[in-house]
Amino acid sequence: MENDRLNSDRITRDYFDSLLIAMRHIDSQIPDTGIRLFGKKFSMPITTAALSHLNNTTEDGMKKMAEGAFMADAVCFSGMGEAAELKSMCDTGARVIKIVKPHEKNDKVYAKILEAEEAGCFAVGMDIDHAFSGNGEYDNVMGLPMRPKSLEELKSFVESTNLPFIVKGVLSVADAKKCMEAGAAGIVVSHHHGIMSGCVPPLMVLPEIKKAVGSRMSIFVDCGIESGMDAYKALALGADAVCVGRAIMGPLKENGAEGVRDKLLSMKAELMSVMERTACVKLNKIDDSVIYHRNF
Ligand SMILES: Cc1cc2nc3c(=O)[nH]c(=O)nc-3n(C[C@H](O)[C@H](O)[C@H](O)COP(=O)(O)O)c2cc1C
Repeated sequence: MENDRLNSDRITRDYFDSLLIAMRHIDSQIPDTGIRLFGKKFSMPITTAALSHLNNTTEDGMKKMAEGAFMADAVCFSGMGEAAELKSMCDTGARVIKIVKPHEKNDKVYAKILEAEEAGCFAVGMDIDHAFSGNGEYDNVMGLPMRPKSLEELKSFVESTNLPFIVKGVLSVADAKKCMEAGAAGIVVSHHHGIMSGCVPPLMVLPEIKKAVGSRMSIFVDCGIESGMDAYKALALGADAVCVGRAIMGPLKENGAEGVRDKLLSMKAELMSVMERTACVKLNKIDDSVIYHRNF
């Protein structure tokens, strides 16, 4: 099914680059990128994405990613992994959001939610888009069987924990509405780095999702975010915050925690530079009125 014309990552990159920004200098000043998420303050609306298996990138990669996020005063998402690794991430002082896989057996899901609570995570969630294998079967991730989850099951996960629950892998208004009905505190609008070919770019569907959701859930966006400019475009189209995955892996490999910190800080600086040149002194002043779609 995969072919280059329908490569979701490439289409997503093209869409980012098709969005252009008008400048507004009058009445502008140095902006503030501070954000409150689930009652906690952070210095930027840029988080590390729900990565996993970063030992393939560098030793203790997940812990180093968390250290980098902590040093940059940013939220740190975590993907699949064992309890000890998660604890080592939380022990860095980072505010960690654990994304649990849609395991076939809900007992396993509840056990992973408990692990997140015990490790000291700040929120927990599930990547609902890892349910199918892409060849007509249910997914199996490294020997672990997966299943799609119903609205009722999502409700039961939300109700099982006092932590805010985030649903990752939402790429439609239909699913966003179900997440709201389930009582989720947030969603990650994502196609999971092209889990299916021909996916709509997250930023293309984001305005409709924002319209449906309003401010009832926090909206995170990932896939292809590499720069402060990309982050700005996502925020302008309705995101509260963005998650950065593959773009921090190079800096992590080269410079460990400091590499992650520096990448996040340079993205924050670039976000500030676009905010100041569009007279958006606070995050809530960023909107789509400066966005133009290249069509020439
Ligand atoms: C090495 C690697 C491991 C990942 N592991 C997970 C995971 O365990 N859980 C999850 O929800 N997403 C996982 N993801 C997906 C990311 O969270 C993210 O959705 C995706 O990479 C798109 O963001 P990006 O373009 O910034 O990389 C992983 C991605 C990468 C590259």
